Amino acid sequence: MTTTHSSPAVFDAREAEASLYMRTFARQPLTLVRGEGVRVWDDTGREYLDFLAGVAVNALGHCAPVIVEAVTRQVSTLIHTSNIYRTVPQLQLAKLLIDNSCMDRIFYANSGAEANECAIKLARKWGKLNRNGAFEIITALGSFHGRTLATLAATGNRHYQEAFDPMPGGFKHVPFNDLEAMASAIGPNTAAIMLEPVLGEGGIYPATQEYLHGVRKLCDDHGILLILDEVQSGIGRTGHLWGYEAYGIEPDVMTLAKGLGGGLPIGACLSKEHASVFAPGDHGSTYSGSPLVCAASLAVVSYILENDVLGHVRLMTAHLLAGLEALKSEGDAGISEIRAFGLWMGIEFEEERAGAILDACREDGLLVNRTSTRTIRIAPPLIVNRDECDRFLDIFGRACFSSR
Ligand SMILES: Cc1ncc(COP(=O)(O)O)c(C=O)c1O
Repeated sequence: MTTTHSSPAVFDAREAEASLYMRTFARQPLTLVRGEGVRVWDDTGREYLDFLAGVAVNALGHCAPVIVEAVTRQVSTLIHTSNIYRTVPQLQLAKLLIDNSCMDRIFYANSGAEANECAIKLARKWGKLNRNGAFEIITALGSFHGRTLATLAATGNRHYQEAFDPMPGGFKHVPFNDLEAMASAIGPNTAAIMLEPVLGEGGIYPATQEYLHGVRKLCDDHGILLILDEVQSGIGRTGHLWGYEAYGIEPDVMTLAKGLGGGLPIGACLSKEHASVFAPGDHGSTYSGSPLVCAASLAVVSYILENDVLGHVRLMTAHLLAGLEALKSEGDAGISEIRAFGLWMGIEFEEERAGAILDACREDGLLVNRTSTRTIRIAPPLIVNRDECDRFLDIFGRACFSSR
């Protein structure tokens, strides 16, 4: 068949999407063209306050000068080499992440799902070598670990899985925050427990202190690995650099993505020395840890560490939470619960109004998203300031009342 080539021309974005894309995303009716800090602009020139930040990705906001500067320098120096060779930004980032965490070794990935795939493979090989071939991984109901087949099987939500059954084997799911259920699920085939410290896609449900401490103890008592999926909770989102620091426990393996690149696609699987069982050829990726994405990530993590971004997150969290609690106390807003862990909040409504509230916010110039028909999620850039929080509270409050 002959294909004719044409250059991109002016087109109707909505029509083009409907005819060109696989139907995977239920998108908001917006075409975004520019971003700066906590603001984005659409193709009509309209400005929005972005309290979703690319789903917890744009940690330093849109087009943060330190990222732009690092990427601009790197893009004209060295973009990609493959992992056949060493590169300096990759090594520098590894050192920074390892020096500032409880981990000893790193594997770079391109996304959260890939970081988790790496952790799953690592746990399986570890089970072969250390626990008579144990291969099973226990995860939580309501969790989200990604969209590849193995990470989908790890995800504790049948809604995402059903169309693709049968799921790959080797995963067991138990209710979250239920230590007894976790203890009963452990058997001779268990190699690891994999948990998010806070269920993110599940609606911002933090693990309790007792639960994570209890799970750590179960792993120690049974000699199995604890993998924490910090894809969403890592890189300062909770007001700690890593979610596990809020609990005072240490995982054996930790996965990262989202905020790690501040918008550039990078993931990572880090592990303690005793869990680091890969040998050459066991795992790999062509693009992972390219000098370009590592330079961006280096800029993000350095900025967070050098500018007390974590302290700022805690201040802004308290400010936002006070405003939201005040809104909730006006019973008419219809808010039944606010779950917060740093700049990461699930606002639950008494009725199924999340869709209407999201639309009202967007029409008033504010971007948020929903994790269910009752729950709005916010995850603004970590550098959001007090004025921007006040603007959010203003618009969000209006949306709660106008959408009744
Ligand atoms: C906790 C968690 N793990 C894994 C993933 C998958 O990450 P990605 O979409 O980058 O593959 C997500 C994405 O939302 C997530 O929240």
